Amino acid sequence: TGPDTVSPTGQPTGADQARMAQSGSYLTTAQGARLYDTDHSLKAGRRGPVLLQDHHLREKITHFDHERIPERVVHARGAAAHGTFTSYGTAATVTKAAFLAEAVETPVFVRFSTVLGSRGSADTVRDTRGFATKFYTSEGVFDLVGNNMPVFFIQDAVKFPDVIHAGKPHPDREIPQAQSAHDTFWDFVTLHTEATHHTLWNMSDRGIPRSYRTMEGFGVHTFRLVDAEGNTTLVKFHWKPKLGVHSLVWEEAQIINGVDPDFHRRDLYDAIEAGAYPEWELGIQTFPDTPDQMFEGIDLLDPTNLVPEELAPVQPIGRLTLDRNPSNFFAEVEQVAFHPGHLVPGIDITDDPLLSGRLFSYLDTQISRLGGPNFAQIPINRPHAPVNDMLRDGMHQTAVHRGVAPYRPNSLDGGCPFTAGADMGAYVETPVRVPEATKVREAPETFQDHFSQARRFWLSMSPVEREHIIGAYTFELAKCYEQAIRERALQVLANIDAELCTGVAAGLGLPAPEPTVPLADVAPSPALSQLGHTWPTE
Ligand code: HEM
Repeated sequence: TGPDTVSPTGQPTGADQARMAQSGSYLTTAQGARLYDTDHSLKAGRRGPVLLQDHHLREKITHFDHERIPERVVHARGAAAHGTFTSYGTAATVTKAAFLAEAVETPVFVRFSTVLGSRGSADTVRDTRGFATKFYTSEGVFDLVGNNMPVFFIQDAVKFPDVIHAGKPHPDREIPQAQSAHDTFWDFVTLHTEATHHTLWNMSDRGIPRSYRTMEGFGVHTFRLVDAEGNTTLVKFHWKPKLGVHSLVWEEAQIINGVDPDFHRRDLYDAIEAGAYPEWELGIQTFPDTPDQMFEGIDLLDPTNLVPEELAPVQPIGRLTLDRNPSNFFAEVEQVAFHPGHLVPGIDITDDPLLSGRLFSYLDTQISRLGGPNFAQIPINRPHAPVNDMLRDGMHQTAVHRGVAPYRPNSLDGGCPFTAGADMGAYVETPVRVPEATKVREAPETFQDHFSQARRFWLSMSPVEREHIIGAYTFELAKCYEQAIRERALQVLANIDAELCTGVAAGLGLPAPEPTVPLADVAPSPALSQLGHTWPTE
């Protein structure tokens, strides 16, 4: 049972609503006592000392003193909007998820973000962008916590603190605010060559989107869909923007950072206010759920890999429209808590070791960021499905739970029959066979190729996109203090492509090294170029 002051739609009622709107004819203290003045402290005489007994003064300043909460440890800067997801029903053949049945409309909240800058940093920095969607489905909340790039820097979550420490500002100088242009970042990505593919995406035009409205989104990991009969299909999720994929050029991005650091935030808000509602199509690439979880030689559990759309086309399954701005940034954009483990029946995870670590990390960090374990009661996080849990008490508890026996079965609270099984619409984990195994701290053989997918991306770029990539690497590496890091980065580029390496080497005034691995014989994937973007249903 939820808090008493919440209506069935999840909106606050009565006194809470009045407090939200500040629309009453008089102000009150937090306890409801009416105030006649909030501009003057209580003093002993007009020019005399302020009196400690002024409760209103102390309450007002104390509350103000505690207004700030910690910013997110990553993805601190973001903007968000409400909207609706309308399902086409095309995914109903592979999943029993109720919100993916034909013509079902589901309310959503979507938060876009940069990754590495602080809350006050600029929007148009070169960085990955977050694309996190909360679906308030009839079966509970489903969060698709994705990025605007389909691959990630690392293959195992145990390295996540390391890659973020390398990407965040230097501990001594606290610069730079943005992702690139510093030694620790380039040190990490050249020593951990699994980061090569994601870094190349960052150095491409995808690293400086024109607008949140013109970004693709990707679930990155391979997920597992389950139909009503228990049949499973492996999938990758894609968001395709109706406006196409567009980027800034670097000079524009730099000028905008100075002139309007809120450029993306403003663009999203203004478009929605003007009625130009941004739209995306959600699509899936599907792969047979074979025991080895490989597809065309690509390990589907390796998050540094993508599957070219030419090998597995993106099939549209629904449409997202964002049509309402938040009314309170703190209550909605700051307090929203996404989690890749918020799943609904019909959608399950795979054993991608990066995803496994994420399943632990988000809840853990949110307990600290949102002040305890009860943040699911914050309005923006409340499911629209009924909640009947046995979680009790804790910091910031607002529910008034009834009953005396928060355990099952019990003979005191009268009922709540608890019959396990899928027939009651419960979330049942797919009984996937775990391969026979010995404990190891090792990556699989199939995670060892760090260059061929990067090479495919490079070969798929148009001439102007290649020119931008060479310019980006040259600009960023020129900012490194350590010559050895620049040289190591050129070695990584030589292992991707000679044209890329010689272009950057010439810009840096350094010799271009020979590759240390045989260059992969890969076909270009035209869909990877921004020029190759398609809106699937057209
Ligand atoms: C936040 C995406 C990997 C830990 C976020 C957000 C996104 C995101 C979009 C922002 C959510 C929001 O708007 O509130 C991704 C993607 C990943 C990835 C696509 C890889 C495919 C990881 C890994 C970890 C991690 C491996 C840790 C092991 C976090 C944390 C936050 C976060 C701690 C802050 C959450 C909060 O304070 O609410 N991530 N992430 N992420 N991510 Fe990830």
